Amino acid sequence: MTSKIIGTGSYLPSHVVTNDDLAKVVDTDDEWISSRTGIKERRIVDNEKEETAYLASMAAKAAVEDAGISPEEIDLILLATMSPDQVLPNVACEVQEAIGAIHAVGMDLNAACSGFVFALNTAHAYITAGIYKNILVIGAETVSKTIDWADRSTCVLFGDGAGAVVVTASETGSYEMVMGADGKKKNALTCKCRPMNNLFLKGSELEYIKMEGQEVFKFAVKTVPECVTEVMEKAKVTADDIKFFVLHQANQRILSSVAKRLNVSMDKIPMNVDRYGNTSSASIPILLDELNKKGLLQEGDKLVLSGFGGGLTWGASLIEW
Ligand code: ACO
Repeated sequence: MTSKIIGTGSYLPSHVVTNDDLAKVVDTDDEWISSRTGIKERRIVDNEKEETAYLASMAAKAAVEDAGISPEEIDLILLATMSPDQVLPNVACEVQEAIGAIHAVGMDLNAACSGFVFALNTAHAYITAGIYKNILVIGAETVSKTIDWADRSTCVLFGDGAGAVVVTASETGSYEMVMGADGKKKNALTCKCRPMNNLFLKGSELEYIKMEGQEVFKFAVKTVPECVTEVMEKAKVTADDIKFFVLHQANQRILSSVAKRLNVSMDKIPMNVDRYGNTSSASIPILLDELNKKGLLQEGDKLVLSGFGGGLTWGASLIEW
């Protein structure tokens, strides 16, 4: 028994923010952002309705429809996010209500930009253990609310969005996974959204995303090729056997460097970072949905998904379509 993706969906807020728009807010320009990151524009929520739960529910509905199953058949909702709307309830339970998945258990998982891959691997583990049959895996973020909009080194990088897949138990296909974490490098990417405040401690200032950009860059260009190679070795396949490497969309330069290190053509590394920026845990399922809807994925195709981000965390899944 293995697991297989049978449906995909995504949702992007309609409000487009270009590099020129950001140049009106902070001291930056299109040339700097484009040449360093490949990002031309991103989507940012601009109304109160579009919270993380709403984005997630819209992507989830589309994925369930694409899978051709009823929401009542879903056993578990695994939702990856680093930008939930509140501490309680979790976003997965909000999605459960919104889409009518009345029999599903719901839980959130936070592994920053690796979140979707970690959630997909967790879904695979539940399925192969025989515990659940149909699992909705979602990556959903409103990263915009965790950004310091006066910090030009981070505010140009991120965007909001959500992507989802339905995973089901299958007797055919293959799956391999690799996951890692290094808490020693926890300070490379942080966001203390809720200041400590109790009977004995006075609340501190609200904090936003802080990033040691070069540290994260060096980590990504080394670790992603390593974990992608490891997952291919585990599956006993080579890069020639892989149709697409669906990588976390953080930065075009990171993706080009990974392509070089893996010795694969950029044709095999699809990108949409130019249009959406870094949507954290949502970037991989959004891209997967684009590939699916364009008809680029055929049954039996092997794909490697790989995420990396805060924690530090990293992971890869080798899946068969
Ligand atoms: N516009 C203009 N200038 C800028 C901007 C900007 N938006 N941002 C920074 N600069 C300036 C800096 O102030 C600095 O100026 P100085 O030399 O006068 O001090 C100069 O540009 C160079 O800054 P660096 O930080 O050295 O720029 P670098 O070449 O490293 O590029 C970048 C920065 C794009 C962030 C790069 O380090 C990177 O891509 N890192 C990886 C980031 C990433 O992918 N993060 C997401 C991880 S996933 C997750 O878990 C969320």
